[in-house]
Amino acid sequence: MSLDIVILAAGQGTRMRSALPKVLHPVAGKSMLGHVIDTARQLQPQSIQVVIGHGAETVRERLSADDLSFVVQAEQLGTGHAVAQALPQLSADTVLILYGDVPLIEVETLQRLLHQVNAEQLGLLTVQLADPTGYGRIVRDAAGTVQEIVEHKDASAAVRAIREGNTGILAVPGKRLADWLGRLSNSNAQGEYYLTDVIGMAVADGLVVATEQASDEMEVLGANDRIQLAQLERHYQYRAGRRLMAQGVTLIDPARFDQRGEVSVGRDVLIDINVILEGRVVIEDNVEIGPNCVIRNSTLRQGAVVKANSHLDGAELGQGADCGPFARLRPGSVLGAKAHVGNFVEMKNAVLGAGAKAGHLSYLGDAEIGARTNIGAGTITCNYDGANKFKTVMGEDVFIGSNSSLVAPLNLGAGATTGAGSTITQDVPADTLAVGRAKQRNIEGWQRPTKKK
Ligand code: UD1
Ligand code: CA
Repeated sequence: MSLDIVILAAGQGTRMRSALPKVLHPVAGKSMLGHVIDTARQLQPQSIQVVIGHGAETVRERLSADDLSFVVQAEQLGTGHAVAQALPQLSADTVLILYGDVPLIEVETLQRLLHQVNAEQLGLLTVQLADPTGYGRIVRDAAGTVQEIVEHKDASAAVRAIREGNTGILAVPGKRLADWLGRLSNSNAQGEYYLTDVIGMAVADGLVVATEQASDEMEVLGANDRIQLAQLERHYQYRAGRRLMAQGVTLIDPARFDQRGEVSVGRDVLIDINVILEGRVVIEDNVEIGPNCVIRNSTLRQGAVVKANSHLDGAELGQGADCGPFARLRPGSVLGAKAHVGNFVEMKNAVLGAGAKAGHLSYLGDAEIGARTNIGAGTITCNYDGANKFKTVMGEDVFIGSNSSLVAPLNLGAGATTGAGSTITQDVPADTLAVGRAKQRNIEGWQRPTKKK
C-alpha cells in the first residue's frame, strides 16, 4: 500500500512566547518538526507534505530537503482545513496525519496504526489520559465501536467524562479523503474546520474505525509551552538512556545524561554524571567517560578514557588512549593507541602518534606528532602568523622540553630534543638537541635595589 504523510505545522504557538516558530523549538538538539520528519522518513512514504503557516519561510529554510514538500496554509482555519491544503499533492492509498509539535511519536506505533488501514477501514491513534481536558474524546457505542470524536469545547458533561482522548494522529484511505474534507463545516464551538469530524463521516459511510493505543501519554504529547517542551526533553532523554543501558552501558545516573544526536555504543561502557553526547558519537567497548564531559561528533575506540570536564568535538581517541581531566580536543584531533593528553591541553587538527604524550598545559594545532613523542608542559605550536596557518611535523621519539614555542612551519626529525624554554624557528635534524634560548649568565656580587627614603 502506498503512503502519503501530511505533517501539520502551521500553528503559531503563542504560549512559547518566542520569535522562533513553535515547531522549530528543539528537543534533544533537534527541532520538534525535524524529529517528526525523521520518523516519517522511516515509513518510506511516497511523499511527505509539511503544512506551514506561521513563520513559514523560516521553517522552510531550516528544514528544506529533496524529499519534503511544503504547503502553505495562509490562515489557520482548523486541522481539517490544514490537511485540505495538501490534498492536490496526495495520491497514495493511505494518508497518515502527523503533527510538527508532537515529536516523540515512535515509528513502531505508526506501523501498528498503518496496519489497520484499508479501503474500508480507518486507523485512529488514541490515548488513555489521566486528565483529558482539552482533548477530543473518542465516543464509542455500547459494543465499543467508535462513533465519532467530539472536541472538548463541544462536549457535554457525559462526553467530557470519557478518558480516551484523540491524539490527532490518524491514517485514512486516500480515496475518501477529498470527499470528507470537502464536506466539513465550521459550525462548532471554535468556528474551525475540524479534521476530527472525518471520523463521524467515515462511520456514516459504513467504514470501520479501528483504533491503536499510544504506548504512553508522553509519546503523543504536543508542546504548547516551554514547560511541556522540557517534559518532552526529559522523556526523550529517559528513553535514550534506557536504550543505551539495554546495549551494555552503565549510566551512573540516567537523569543526568543527555544525548543530542546519534550514538552507537559497545559493551561495558561507563558514563559518569552530566555527560552530553552530541551529533554522531561512536563509543566502543570498555570506554570510560568521566563526569561533566561534552562529546560531539567523536569516536572513542576500545578502552579509551575521557576524564572529567573534557570537551571533545570532532576528535578520535585510539584504543586505550586517554585525555583529561580538562582536555579540549577540537576538530581533527586524533590520539593514536595509548596516546595520552592531560589537563589543560588544547588540540586542533593535530595527530598524536601511538603512545605519544602531552601531559599538561599545551596548544597543539596543525601538527603531526610521531609515536612515543613526549610534549613537555607549556609547549605551544605557533601555527598562525595572523594571516596563514602552518604545520609542525615531529618524528617518533621526539622530546620537547617544557615551555617550548615551536614556530611553524617546522620539521623535527625522529629522536630530536628541544631544550626547555626554547623558541624553535628552524628545522631540527633527527637525534639532535636544539636549544633556542638566551644563555644564562650568573652575576656575582650583584646587589638588589633598596627602597629610596
Ligand atoms: C486537536 C484535535 C483533538 C486532539 C488534540 C490532540 C482537532 C479538531 N482536534 O485539537 O481532537 O485531542 O489535537 O492534541 O483536530 N494546525 C494547523 N493548522 C490549523 C490548525 C491547527 O497546522 O489550521 C496544527 C497546529 O499547529 C497543531 C495541530 O495542528 O500542531 C493541532 O491543532 P490544535 O489547534 O492545537 O488542535 P487541538 O485543539 O489541540
Ligand atoms: Ca493542541
